[in-house]
Amino acid sequence: MTQPFSYKLLAQDGAARLGEIATPRGVIRTPAFMPVGTTASVKAVFLDDVKAAGSDIILGNTYHLMLRPGAERIAKLGGLHSFMRWDGPILTDSGGFQVMSLAQLRKLTEKGVTFRSHIDGAMYELTPERSIEVQNLLGSDIQMQFDECTPFPATFDEAESSMRLSLRWAERSLAAFAQYGRPGRALFGIVQGSTFPELRRESAAKLTSMDFHGYSVGGLAVGEGQRAMFDTLDFTTPLLPTNKPRYLMGVGTPADIVGAVERGIDMFDCVMPTRSGRHGQAFTWAGKLNIKNAAHIEDLRPLDETSTCPASRDYSRAYIHHLFRSGEYLAPMILSWANIGFYQELMAAIRKSIAEGTFADVAARVRAVYPSTVE
Ligand code: GUN
Repeated sequence: MTQPFSYKLLAQDGAARLGEIATPRGVIRTPAFMPVGTTASVKAVFLDDVKAAGSDIILGNTYHLMLRPGAERIAKLGGLHSFMRWDGPILTDSGGFQVMSLAQLRKLTEKGVTFRSHIDGAMYELTPERSIEVQNLLGSDIQMQFDECTPFPATFDEAESSMRLSLRWAERSLAAFAQYGRPGRALFGIVQGSTFPELRRESAAKLTSMDFHGYSVGGLAVGEGQRAMFDTLDFTTPLLPTNKPRYLMGVGTPADIVGAVERGIDMFDCVMPTRSGRHGQAFTWAGKLNIKNAAHIEDLRPLDETSTCPASRDYSRAYIHHLFRSGEYLAPMILSWANIGFYQELMAAIRKSIAEGTFADVAARVRAVYPSTVE
């Protein structure tokens, strides 16, 4: 029998939760960080290294993969897991968020979104039904409802009608999932409502009355600032069921992650480790450093000699600096790998500390070198 999707809460330290999500493709230890593999690639990092760094699950994107190489084509080629050679769980975002940030000539109606592809200019339509169909053609293990990420800032009325549209799309997404989904696959609802407590409450109440496998908090990290994001989590996570996973979409910095774990979030994704890595920024336990800086030109120390990640432990700062200066492909490869390694070490330290009741110590250690932007 297929292993069903399930969440187990193992320990709590304050509101911080240690847990496990069981899927047919393996267990996800939470709090979890999910490296982003938008176009069936975690940019510049081999998946064997992504896995060895401690990643239990990676992310893919409906929007990018439906445009190229195409969802039906990926299904014909055996599905996303075998196509990219990742046998663990994959979570896919539903596409609306990416359409609004990347596509041209977007038109949003009750039915869905029509848009012009940013790749070849062809017209496409994405609806709740098509998004769920695409996510199932890809073979995604954790799928997202089709939603509108409410832009920030929004007036109360704008945020209300956007959130209610996402609620109607949530019902259609569930109905489509009942048609296309397979045993063991999961569908998450996405709580919207911008920074308004009343709207978050309505969104959470309606979504939790529907039978989703987990709940995402969307519409954050879109320019509202860390204070408003934390305030929104303060009144939103207590509205979510304790027996299902909670996922904060598109977040974040190390300080964002410890602040959100502290408020009861279990799952994160962000392009930050790989994008920063391609631009010369390294994340370490001593803080962020820019390896392109002249200070590193003769520095034989590794990024972090205590790290178990070969990229952080085995290459000198002088060498990585030289690779960046020379425009070598290896430069972004080493640094993206090192940053995935750091993010997974951070999550492992967070999980261990929740089990031991010492989460506040890890949070303080992170905040000492990654100052929180909250006053
Ligand atoms: N990624 C970051 N924020 C969001 C959101 O609100 N909705 C979706 N679908 N994806 C996101």
